[in-house]
Formats: sequence, structure tokens, C-alpha cells
Amino acid sequence: MEIIQSPQAYSEVYKKSIEDPEAFWADVASDFQWRKKWDKVFEWDFHKADVKWFLGGKLNITENCLDRHLPHKAKQTAILWESNDPHEPSRHITYQELYDNVCRVGNMLKNQGVKKGDRVCIYMPMIPEVAYAILGCARIGAVHSVVFAGFSAGSLIDRINDSGCKVVLTTDGSYRGDKKIDLKIIVDEALVKCPTVEKTIVCRRTMNPVSMKAGRDLWWHDEIKKVSSDCPAEEMDSEDLLFILYTSGSTGKPKGMVHTCGGYMVYTNYTFRTVFQYQEDQVFWCTADVGWVTGHSYILYGPLSAGATTVIFEGVPSYPDMGRFWHVAEKHRVNIFYTAPTAIRSLEKAPLSFVNNYDLQTVKILGTVGEPINEEAWHWYHEHIGRGLCPIVDTWWQTETGGIMISPIANVTKLKPTFATLPLPGVQPAVMDENGNELTGHGVEGRLTLKFPWPAMARTIYGDHQRFKDTYFSTFPGKYFTGDGCKRDEDGFYRITGRVDDIIIVSGHNMGTAEIESAIDEHSAVCETAVVGFPHDIKGQGVYAYVICYDMPHEEEKLRKEIRDLVSKIIGPIAKPDKIQFVSGLPKTRSGKIMRRILRKVAEGETSNLGDTSTLVDPAVVDEIRNGAL
Ligand code: WT7
Repeated sequence: MEIIQSPQAYSEVYKKSIEDPEAFWADVASDFQWRKKWDKVFEWDFHKADVKWFLGGKLNITENCLDRHLPHKAKQTAILWESNDPHEPSRHITYQELYDNVCRVGNMLKNQGVKKGDRVCIYMPMIPEVAYAILGCARIGAVHSVVFAGFSAGSLIDRINDSGCKVVLTTDGSYRGDKKIDLKIIVDEALVKCPTVEKTIVCRRTMNPVSMKAGRDLWWHDEIKKVSSDCPAEEMDSEDLLFILYTSGSTGKPKGMVHTCGGYMVYTNYTFRTVFQYQEDQVFWCTADVGWVTGHSYILYGPLSAGATTVIFEGVPSYPDMGRFWHVAEKHRVNIFYTAPTAIRSLEKAPLSFVNNYDLQTVKILGTVGEPINEEAWHWYHEHIGRGLCPIVDTWWQTETGGIMISPIANVTKLKPTFATLPLPGVQPAVMDENGNELTGHGVEGRLTLKFPWPAMARTIYGDHQRFKDTYFSTFPGKYFTGDGCKRDEDGFYRITGRVDDIIIVSGHNMGTAEIESAIDEHSAVCETAVVGFPHDIKGQGVYAYVICYDMPHEEEKLRKEIRDLVSKIIGPIAKPDKIQFVSGLPKTRSGKIMRRILRKVAEGETSNLGDTSTLVDPAVVDEIRNGAL
């Protein structure tokens, strides 16, 4: 499959991909190593929320990420690892070493009785072993469920239990900036409530003392010594599960999005090579954490299946100072740099000397993901990091889509700041109005849906296909609803305007307001809560909580702190409310629905134009809320 390299080629390939998707995707998929070729390219029915790709195909994704590169790339660096501590030597892991380590982890898991289809929870920081763990699962056909190591015990419990994980892979601790976090203690706390977990394997990182439960807990360094680096890859069906990854829903518990082997492999590889125009021997750095889908698709599977050198960075952008990203980019001669708007906004506030101290000439292509990028951040990134020379690919996609959907193709698509621009080949967006009519033509604004399947789309929500159907396929029958609003301008370019549901995006992380509300409600003084997002300079959106207490609190600050600590404990520090306003009531309609529109406006600082409040049970509560706005 030839990679698109000109606007003309884009138009031609896009057209072909829509007119004959079967031929298009068969062509893309023929670039891989299949144990057995597929019988049928796809089968779909959005009314039933059923999608299958490369039916009958047999493969193992790790053979495509590792084995097939060995004849010519054994000595090439696969993973370039950079520690949190700038003084700790970085590590260069070759494709041969990665292969050996992945196989060892595969065997280590097999020794603990892990078989094809078993779920393994991975709760680890950004060290090379997390890559061995993920790929080690894929090697033997175990389903990995990576839980971001910034989540609390409560979040870990929900995720482990929902998918019935048998084994947990973790570390003694982790480093993040100047903080040290005792991960194993969090795991110990969680496992008291996780009956399906039989074993944990603990990798050393921080060397802090940990307690090991006899019969359950094993040391990675002991177990890994017992196994060989010969681990034949399990033969997987295209539609066998590769992984589960949890994402927040607008209501209820997090959704375990299920991704399968064949389509995910084909799509992440194709989009990686197309969007970033990856060239042999380049160094690619995606700054996401492997705990998010971005890390799965564009730190590991996409780059490794393309034989790239991928950077794994353990630290944070602000440690030891605000120049760390640029230091690392210079040090490792990074060519393609992919990060989140929230990171750009925070770095843009620092003195320019933090950028200018470093030579970023090797950087050729920039990318962003996770939320809409604002004009100011776009220009700063373009001018100061890209020296006015590098294209910025603003990539729109979701945990559910598995890979990039709407994005410029570097050096091919015309750039338009704050626009994700055009759909990639095979992607068929449709903009809908609130009444379910498709808005055709240019210059329209509405809800973003997708009317045709693509290979990496999530197949279901683990254990709850009905919820999958209800969440994504019922709002606009026959279409996949993204939950995002968008504009399609005069050029046919897309601009994503943000969520239209009760999900807020804080620092690029997707959070359900319902989840935060229920965490706050656990406080014994709290009677009811409503959470909305508000514009935040750095995080994009911040969390604003309106809280009703049984008795009006005497010591508001103390209670605020308790609520923040509680949310941090139940969900994780990223979900902590930035603002907590104590109120005596919430604006509710007669049917009891909270009018979040009003709460959002107040949180945004709007106090006059609150729209129609006549349908509220008690319109007076609006004045109180407005007067007490933070
Ligand atoms: C939501 C998905 C995709 C991996 C990281 C987030 C928002 C994502 C963009 C973008 C505007 C974006 C959307 C989407 N989003 N990328 N380039 N421009 N918005 O994955 O946690 O599943 O969140 O992030 O609202 O629906 P996620």
C-alpha cells in the first residue's frame, strides 16, 4: 500500500476508499504478516452495533510488531526510554531485546496459568517493562487491561472486577516529577476487594519496601529468571480480543471498550504511517501515558508495527524544569513529536528560554491530540517548537475509535489552526442536526457521527453490548455517534467543538461528570452534587462542583479539602474539583432533571444571560447560584 504523499493522492485514495472500501482495506491489510488470510474484509450492522473486520484472518499482532522486523532491524532501537530523573541514563532497547523481553513476559504469565482470553490488569508506570507486559499479553493471547497508574484503588477495583482480571502486573512504586508514589500499596488496598485476582507480579522500580502476600505476590525479577525467551506467538482470530481499555461514560461506571486484533493492527499502523509520514530511522515521540488509548496506539502498536523507534518517557513536562520536553527532544534527536494541547498551554506560560536553550532542528512534524487546541497554543507550538516550519497534525479520535480519524496528513493537507481538517481514508463523517437530519454540504454545524465502520473501532463494551448499542448507535439510528459537536466549513474542513454530552475533558483526559458526582456524594456531609466543566487556561476544562450539604457548612475550606481528597482517593487526583460552590439547591426541571446548561453558564462566568429558566421548579435558586459563583 502506498502512503499518500500529495493532496491529489489524498483525494484519489479517499475517493477509492469510499467507493470500494473492501478493495481499499484489503490492499492496506496485505502489508501485514497473517498466519492465514481473511475470507471477508468486513461485515457490519450499525442497528445491531455489530462490526467485524478481516473475518477468518489469523494473526498475532506481536509477530507484526517484532518477529517480522528481526531479519533487518534486530539491532535497531525499538524503544528509547527516558527516565523521570534526567541524571539516570536513558535506555536503548533494540528490536531483538524487545522481542526477547516480550517473550519472557509471555512465558512468565503462562507459568502463572494465564491462557488465551484471560484478562491481565497492567498497573505500571512508564518504564520499559510496561511495554514488555502489554506485548507479552498479546504474545500469548491474554487480554490486557491497562489502568493508568495515576488512578486510585477505587478506580482500580472497578476496572479489575468489571473484566475479572486473573493477574495484576505492577511495580513497587513510580516516579512522577518530584513525587514518589507507592503503587503496590494501592494495589494491596484494591485487591482486598478483587476476588478474581490470583497473582500479582511486582516489578522493582523505586526500591521502596513493600509487603508481599505469600501465595499471591511474586517478584518480576525472580519469575523472569525462570523462563526462556522462546515463546511462540499464539494464533489469534482477527476478531479475538486484544485489549480492554476503560473510558468514562456520561452516566454510570466506566466503559470497558473492547478492541480486537486484526482491524486494530491494520488501522493503527496505517494511520501512524499516513498522518505522521513516518520515514525509516526516524525517532517518534508520543508523550501520552500508556494508560490511555493514545499510548496503546501511538507509543506501542502503531510505531512498533511500522518498525519505528518510539520514545517512552517516564517523567512529566515540568520536571526538573519547564524545559524537560525540549531537553529530551534534543537529546534523542526526536523527529516527530506528538503531545496534548494541555501540555502546550502549560509550557507556553514558561519563559521562552526554556525552549531556546535547546536545539530542536531534528523535529520535523508536530502533533496534538485529546481536545480542541486553541488558536494561541497552536501558534505558539507552530512558531516556537516548529520554528514556523513544521506542520501540526491536529488529530481527532477517541478511545472508541482506536486510531486517528480526522486529521491533517503531515506535509500533505493544508493547515488551518484549530481544525482537525479532513477525514482519513475510509472515514465517513456525517454532521447531524438535533432532530436527526444529516446536514450535507459545506458551512454546517452539528453533531459528529460516522456512517461507515473502520477497522479499529471498538466492538463492544466488555460484558454490556446493550450499553454499547445505547451509547453509540441509538441517538442517530444507523450511525455511530461520537458525542462531539463539530463544524464543517466552506472548505469541507472539520473543526471539533467539544463534547455535547456530560463528559468533560480535563487535561486531555475524558471524565464523566456522573462519576465525579458520585464520588463527592460519598462524603457524609454531602446531600447532592452537580458537576460541570468550565474553561481552564491550562487544563482546557476544569471541574466545577455545585454541592448541596445536609447542613450549610461552617468551615467551607475544610470541607472543600475533604471533598477534594475524597475524589482523589476514589477516582484519582486528575478528577479533583478545581472549584466547589456550596449551594442550597440545584436548578431542576419538574421532571427532576438538573439543568446543566445553567450551571455551565455560571461556571463559565456568565451571570446575566442564563436563558429560559421558566421551566424550573424553583427559579430563585438560580439567583443564589449566580451570586455565589466562584
Ligand atoms: C474525546 C475522546 C484520542 C485519544 C485521547 C482522548 C476529544 C480528542 C481531539 C482533537 C478536539 C478532541 C473529543 C473526543 N478530542 N482529540 N484533536 N480535537 N477534540 O481519548 O479520552 O477517548 O477522548 O477527546 O471530545 O470525543 P478519549
